Amino acid sequence: MNKIVVISLASVFAAGVAGYTLAGPDRVAFPSGYAERFVLYNTVDRPDRKTIRFMYVSPETHTKAKAGEPAPDGTILIMEDHRAKLDASGSAELGPDGRLVPTDQITNIFVMEKRAGWGDAYPPEVRNGDWDYAHYLPDGAPKADAKFDGCFSCHRNRTGRDFNFTYTKYLMDREGK
Ligand code: HEC
Repeated sequence: MNKIVVISLASVFAAGVAGYTLAGPDRVAFPSGYAERFVLYNTVDRPDRKTIRFMYVSPETHTKAKAGEPAPDGTILIMEDHRAKLDASGSAELGPDGRLVPTDQITNIFVMEKRAGWGDAYPPEVRNGDWDYAHYLPDGAPKADAKFDGCFSCHRNRTGRDFNFTYTKYLMDREGK
């Protein structure tokens, strides 16, 4: 037990020595007006969270992006969580299509943005290419207690797919690849 504590403190110390802090909203601004300007390319039902996730991409990217190529510089991907409609017993209702029914109530807005050189601030074992991440509340305020290490470590599972779960897949499906 003691040993585990020592190791984890050592790795925290090492991160400090390496001198990086995850930038979050300092870099990735709230994309004002995205619901009007951006392209809604997918929705993902998460019954476990009673949530429907609306996925948006920046329009400039959507016209240029091709399956098999990394998204262009300046790409912004947004995941907007909506609360699902609940029945009288508090379970998530299903619509006629068998899908969850989204309400207009937005709970969280997750943003990932890619800018040339952004990855240079982070060590190679942390870096997600040139992507950075932010977490906003529906009024556009940064979520106060947001942690970004999880964004980096989980999205690294998609290293071969430009660090995202749904947009690269969308492009592959669209182009039949
Ligand atoms: C435990 C793994 C995990 C963590 C941690 C995580 N994500 Fe994701 N993210 C996912 C998955 C999986 C999806 C696809 C939607 C789904 O299945 O819920 C996703 C989707 C997204 C998308 C839409 C583009 C895409 O990749 O499909 C954005 C934007 C996003 N996440 C941002 C963030 C931000 C910002 C954070 C940190 C505050 C974060 N994520 C933390 C797993 C994670």
